[in-house]
Amino acid sequence: MADMTNIQQHVRLGSNSGQPMTRRDGVLKVTGQAPYAADRRPEGVLHAVTAVAGIARGTVEHLDTAAALAHPGVVRVYTPANRPALAVHPDTKIHGFAWRTEALQDDSVRYAGQPIALVVAETLEAATEGVRLLNPRYRADPPRIGLDGNAPYDPETVSIGRPPSLETGDMDAARAGAAHRLDTVIETAAQYHNALEPHAITAQWFGDRVEIDTPNQAIGLARQSFAAYLGIDPAQIVIRSPFLGGGFGSKAILYGAQLLAVLASKDLDRPVKLALRRDQMYGPVGHRPATRQTLRLDLDDQGHIMALDHHTLAVASSFDNFIESASNAAHSVYATTAMRTTHSAVRADTGTPGPMRAPGEAPGSAALEVAIDQAAHAMGMDPLAFRLLNYAETDPSTGMAFSSKALRECYAQAAELFGWVDRPMEPRRMRQGRLLKGWGMGTAQFPCPMFQAAAHATLRADGSAVVETSAADMGQGAWTALAQIAADGLGIDIDRLEFRSGHSDLPDAGVAGGSGHTATAGTALFNAGADTVRQLADIATNDPGSPLFGAGNAGVTARGGRLYRNDDDSRSEAYEDILARAGLDLLRGEGKGAREGEPDRAMFSHGGVFAEVLVDPDLGQIRVSRLVGAFAAGRIINPQLARSQLLGGMIWGVGFALHEEAIHDPRTGRFTNNDLAGYHIPVNADVPFVEALMVHEDDAFVNALGIKGVGELGVTGTVGAIANAVWHATGIRPRRFPIHPESLI
Ligand code: MOS
Repeated sequence: MADMTNIQQHVRLGSNSGQPMTRRDGVLKVTGQAPYAADRRPEGVLHAVTAVAGIARGTVEHLDTAAALAHPGVVRVYTPANRPALAVHPDTKIHGFAWRTEALQDDSVRYAGQPIALVVAETLEAATEGVRLLNPRYRADPPRIGLDGNAPYDPETVSIGRPPSLETGDMDAARAGAAHRLDTVIETAAQYHNALEPHAITAQWFGDRVEIDTPNQAIGLARQSFAAYLGIDPAQIVIRSPFLGGGFGSKAILYGAQLLAVLASKDLDRPVKLALRRDQMYGPVGHRPATRQTLRLDLDDQGHIMALDHHTLAVASSFDNFIESASNAAHSVYATTAMRTTHSAVRADTGTPGPMRAPGEAPGSAALEVAIDQAAHAMGMDPLAFRLLNYAETDPSTGMAFSSKALRECYAQAAELFGWVDRPMEPRRMRQGRLLKGWGMGTAQFPCPMFQAAAHATLRADGSAVVETSAADMGQGAWTALAQIAADGLGIDIDRLEFRSGHSDLPDAGVAGGSGHTATAGTALFNAGADTVRQLADIATNDPGSPLFGAGNAGVTARGGRLYRNDDDSRSEAYEDILARAGLDLLRGEGKGAREGEPDRAMFSHGGVFAEVLVDPDLGQIRVSRLVGAFAAGRIINPQLARSQLLGGMIWGVGFALHEEAIHDPRTGRFTNNDLAGYHIPVNADVPFVEALMVHEDDAFVNALGIKGVGELGVTGTVGAIANAVWHATGIRPRRFPIHPESLI
């Protein structure tokens, strides 16, 4: 047996993993050769444009479809009156990760920006003009917008399947024994994903079979959803998603506009393309909802946290149950003798929110870290010393040991690089010229879920290989990191590996989300390679013509496209020679990736983030001048890509803290800033210095490869660190994100 195939804890990876390779698809992207869904131009393609609601609640009373149809080039106008039938109502939850959506089921309007009609035309211009000519007339009801827009009603507790509340320990006893009480209320604004590539789809039917080009983070799930709505066998559907221009959660779910394009294509027997405009992505394709979080910390006279209470009120839609699980972010970060986390929702006239990079954790961590900073100051303690005093040696929410936790090293390395030791305790003590300077910190933490993935590996006669899995690369470099793992599973050099992905006919790689994609799809790919090597080793060690004959239980090791005897490294044989003698053109292995059984360890990635801000005392203008994080996330497959992911997450944290905010006109419920001019995100000038250090961490429990995840970790901790730096600069405690200049003057 080849020892690489004996997958236990501490699997040995080969020399491809750990290398800071650049993205294998980078050249295709920067030279414009990477095809995106909207780049497809099938012969005879029609263009579809959605008409969207200009009110937030009410009824569409009239659409001038005659005027739209009379416009040259317009082929069809779909409204609830003539929309082709679907096999299931779009309000049906077809599976656990499906949202109720809008596919012209009726004339009601549930939020501003909801699709209310679809115009299909020979050109994009004609379809756009057709939409304008529809000139909708509404009966409008008063919109219920934001956290207080539905104020006369009791907030309704809703659940998305995660436990809505958790209580550990004896809250009353813990509070009774406490010496200090701190209350914190933090609000966070609604945010929109704003992936550079819009939600786009090109659909073309061939009889009963449909081919769909659309960016998707979970192709298998998308195929299942399309099949259910269309009432056809999933085998009749091909989805191609070779490249995604960002996703951040918004492309993990199938939404109504994509469904309408597929329906129109079938109905008209022509290929149909639909690409949402930037403004049309505000509403129907998910967002991060606003929250109001109420935290109470009870401390003993030394500063130990006795009781931690974290409640989140989040905006939900009027018709589905996604709730931002921000309080869950408090579960496992700090030690406490008792804890309670709860959620409730206020229903508003908004599109249903959904997962957005670090869903729950990003806003939850922001509020928690502000509360912790406030507690440290109340105790007269340095914020890092306070966090170390309350360091969770075990997960306080479950009592479980951590699978690994190098957070102390993260704090130490980031603090050292930042120069934290020189921080004055009191606020408003540092200046740079006329600007106030402040330093703050936060703890980053994100769970390490695994999903389900499958993969194939095929070794070819020349010793090269192809691996196949439907994995999605949103731009983060997943294909490169996954190819590194796959090459190591096969024991070959990565240059000899072809990586096939982004197609629904390939084995399902699960969802590229939850920071679990590298661990999950990587495990499947490694196992597929190892399965292939195992077969190859069986052939060679049983072949009297092989120098490996009789290696038997001593085993062989695969590297560089050769098998080596473990008991005699001078005896080896190349893959192609083993295959040739066995008369094989191909050798194929299969692998799966999933977590076996119920975890008995708490599994998290960690980090410490330190921020410096400069605040104009007269204008309240805030600049993040330095941002330093150190992160521990198990085995790092590609240090360059992992660092990029973490830098991206941290910069998202700058946007969360200072910029990102969707604003509605409360009278109409419409957006006032549904574009990248009005919806602010950080540009280069907003982040002069940012560094992410990787701290070494071995994890024998998280999975056989020891991989955690880095996709969402960077935004956690960072938002709080910036807010705490703003307090340290100004003495004013931010209570709402994004922090507005006027709140500081
Ligand atoms: Mo995500 S919000 O894990 O795509």
